[in-house]
Amino acid sequence: MSRRTGVAASALRFYEEMGLIASVRTSGNQRRYPRHMLRRVSLVIVAKRVGIPLADVQEAFASVPLDTTPTHEDWQRASRQWKKELEARRQAIERLEHELVGCIGCGCLSMKACRLLNPDDALGQEGAGPRRLGPLAD
Ligand code: FES
Repeated sequence: MSRRTGVAASALRFYEEMGLIASVRTSGNQRRYPRHMLRRVSLVIVAKRVGIPLADVQEAFASVPLDTTPTHEDWQRASRQWKKELEARRQAIERLEHELVGCIGCGCLSMKACRLLNPDDALGQEGAGPRRLGPLAD
């Protein structure tokens, strides 16, 4: 598994502890991963690459069986759930891209627009973070 995915054995153990993947033990107590776990680990790698927290991956994988090779329908079900999360992230990235040259309500007051959109950091009264970017995923 480690050789095929490029993921360190320690990371695989961590994913297993999180319930993202599962292994079976040999009589010598060595871990053996069923072939279908390659897909799960690969999806974890991609998710990490695009900044999706493992907890969210865990949630998305929750409905996909660990003990048998998942069916196309199993992955479709997980995909439908994940699409909502990915859409929220895509919107947050678009907001960030759009607001990169404007006031994001972070309290810095360093842009011309801050005087108008966040005078004296009034938005700081609403809470922490860049208030004009809306709720951001962790
Ligand atoms: S960009 Fe920071 S408060 Fe406007």
